[in-house]
Amino acid sequence: MAIEIFEPKGWMLTEYPELNGKTREDAWVLLNEWVSSPSLIRHCLSVETATRAYALKLGEPEEAWAVVGLIHDFDYERHPDPSEHTFVGAEYLRTQGYPEWVISAVLSHGSNLEHPRTTPLEKTLFAVDELTGFISAVSLVRPSKAVADVKASSVKKKMKDKGFAAGVHREDLTAGAEELGIPLEEHINFVIQAMTANADVLGLAGVGSETQHADQG
Ligand SMILES: [Fe+2]
Ligand SMILES: [Fe+2]
Repeated sequence: MAIEIFEPKGWMLTEYPELNGKTREDAWVLLNEWVSSPSLIRHCLSVETATRAYALKLGEPEEAWAVVGLIHDFDYERHPDPSEHTFVGAEYLRTQGYPEWVISAVLSHGSNLEHPRTTPLEKTLFAVDELTGFISAVSLVRPSKAVADVKASSVKKKMKDKGFAAGVHREDLTAGAEELGIPLEEHINFVIQAMTANADVLGLAGVGSETQHADQG
C-alpha cells in the first residue's frame, strides 16, 4: 500500500487541521488575480490535478491538497526571482488568512534550504511540480498531442534527451520520486493517469477534441 511509504503515520490528523474556511474557489480567484499567463495557470491546474490525485490515493483531504497545488506558484509571474518567489506569496497568504501549513507547503516547493520539505504534502508538491510540466511537454510532441497516449517509458526516455524541455531539471524529477519513496516509473505513471483524467481542463485531450481552456477553470 502506497500509504505505508510515509512516516510518521497519522500525521494528517494533527498537522493539517483546517483551511481556515478557504476553499478551492478562493484559491482559484487568488490565482487569477495574480496570474495572467495561460501557461502558468495551466501549470497550476496540472499541479492541482496531481496533488488532488495523490490526496485521494493516500486518503488525505482532497480539497486541502488541491488548494496548495493550485496556488503554489501564484506569485511567480510578479516575482520570478528565487529570492522573492514563494516568500512574497507567503506573506500575502498570511494577510489573507491562509493557515500556516499551506504557507509552509508553498515555501517548501522552492529549493531553499530554509524551508525543507518535511510533510507528505510538501514532498508530493515538489515531486509533481516539474513532472507535470515535463509530461505536458512530452504530450505535445506526440502526434495526437494527448496525455492519454504518453507512456512512462517515453517520459523516462525524454528525460535522457538533454535538448528536450531543457528547463526542467532532471534531478528534481528523480529526487521528487525518491523523497516520496515511490519508484520513478510508478510515480510518472500515476501522474500521467491523473492528468489524463483531467485532460480537457489541462488542454491535453488531443487534437480534434473539444478542449476546455484554463480560463474556464
Ligand atoms: Fe515555484
Ligand atoms: Fe510550479
